[in-house]
Amino acid sequence: MEQELDQLEAAALEELTQTHDLLQLESWRVRYLGKKSALTSILRGLASLADGKRKTVGARANAIKTSLHAELAEKKQSLSLRSLDESLENSSLDVTLPGRPLPYGRLHPITQDIAEICSVFADMGFQVLEGPEVERDYYNFEALNIPQNHPARDMFATLWVDSRDDSNARLLRTHTSPMQIRLMEQQKPPLRFVVPGRTYRYEATDATHDWMFHQVEGLAIDTDITLRDLKETLFEFCKNIFGRDTQVRFRCDYFPFVEPGGEVAIECVKCKGAGCRLCSGTGWLEILGTGMVHPDVLARCGIDPTVYSGFAFGMGVERISILRHGVDDIRLFYSNDFRFLRQF
Ligand code: DAH
Repeated sequence: MEQELDQLEAAALEELTQTHDLLQLESWRVRYLGKKSALTSILRGLASLADGKRKTVGARANAIKTSLHAELAEKKQSLSLRSLDESLENSSLDVTLPGRPLPYGRLHPITQDIAEICSVFADMGFQVLEGPEVERDYYNFEALNIPQNHPARDMFATLWVDSRDDSNARLLRTHTSPMQIRLMEQQKPPLRFVVPGRTYRYEATDATHDWMFHQVEGLAIDTDITLRDLKETLFEFCKNIFGRDTQVRFRCDYFPFVEPGGEVAIECVKCKGAGCRLCSGTGWLEILGTGMVHPDVLARCGIDPTVYSGFAFGMGVERISILRHGVDDIRLFYSNDFRFLRQF
């Protein structure tokens, strides 16, 4: 029996040296220290042994049990440490690798173009200001020489907030021009302002029209401002935005709040003047309305038209963005499609 115990111990210790991971160690434990192991059954059978034998065999078997448990604990610890080392080794950090790039946010293309348009004018001495989108009839129409029932109201399909038809009725501004009046009412000349912002029209939506779009309005009032200043300022603007080689054209046009009124067009960005579908075969693309501020408008704002003169202009931002970036549908700007927006 004692010999059997010696062999058992020797076999257990020998086998322990062959266990290389925690899984093998567990089956070793079951085999040598588990309920069904030889050692356990010897310990259970002690009672049936003769007195003298029971003492020596019992002492030996218990000593082996204790020492195997100690070996087990030690081995367990060293294997755990090893597996930790290994996993550290395998998942080691390479601190020389470049970091993961963070995704950048970006400004909406219209926001970017508004900023660029305003900065061109800011460089020419204009201040940037914003105004209310819900306007009074007076500012949007009346003060701009477009009284009740004037046919020019047909130029602007209006979204009304109030149903009353007087100068106090509220509407969604159809253009940024009402800010000309607010500025001239509030400040004394000289004035040089650009006003970017949203405008609204009661219109069906298609590839070139939306019911909401942006404009940038401009106003310059001083003692010696002439049509020449207007042309020089706007030509310089066009060349900054569309490139220095761009051909720019000035022609007469009608707007009730300016006299004379005009329009500025650039050579077609697509056909370079040859005539194509984008420019309806004319070779030119109209990009803004302008004119010398009407004396009646100045007088209405308390500015003496015999002393002061000035020019105003208004442009549609989406139209400019479409031409600059070759976008073929205005609705893309507001459909929140990342595939589109990420390009800017
Ligand atoms: N407000 C006009 C429009 O929306 C554009 C415009 C024309 C603005 C002439 C002006 C101007 O300041 O002088 O169609």
